[in-house]
Amino acid sequence: MSDFDKAWDAFESNCKNCRDCGLCETVNNVVIYRGNRQAPLMVIGEAPGANEDKEGKPFVGRSGQLLQNLLESYGFNDSNYHICNIVKCRPPENRRPTPVEIAACKKHLAEQFRLVKPKVIVLCGSTAYEAFYGKKPTMRDVRGNFEEKNGFFIMTTFHPAYALRDPKNKIPMYDDLGKVRAKLEELGLV
Ligand code: URA
Repeated sequence: MSDFDKAWDAFESNCKNCRDCGLCETVNNVVIYRGNRQAPLMVIGEAPGANEDKEGKPFVGRSGQLLQNLLESYGFNDSNYHICNIVKCRPPENRRPTPVEIAACKKHLAEQFRLVKPKVIVLCGSTAYEAFYGKKPTMRDVRGNFEEKNGFFIMTTFHPAYALRDPKNKIPMYDDLGKVRAKLEELGLV
């Protein structure tokens, strides 16, 4: 087994055995990622929902279908991306994860970054933005622009659930992912 595979297995087992917040009490499956273990593009959502908790994979419900369609429309496939969430366990009743839960899960996300080594990061929705930057966004101001931070190119866009609630928001999301594609091409990573 390669050093990378060993490190990945240790990471997954730390996530699955984590007892650092109350979400582990009600979880069926800890949701870690789908896509490639190392990928130039990392897409980060909020938290698993019921479908994700059942299947153990992020973004497999209706929001996931929209996200998938958008990614595929730009020619991305699961070798290019790594999809995950700010927290790895489903909050009951699909509520937002609390700041305590987000803080408890941060070390897992940090390890995930170290292993996946993305270059471009897409934050889907205000919870992902807030967890990342430590402040609340005004989505209409922050979305659609790249910020370069510690060598990463970070783009905030709407959460697909928001675009499902108001389909006119699919258009800016589509535009944002177009910029993501262009950035990865500029970097020679797709
Ligand atoms: N919403 C999210 O933020 N993440 C998922 O995995 C599914 C829905």
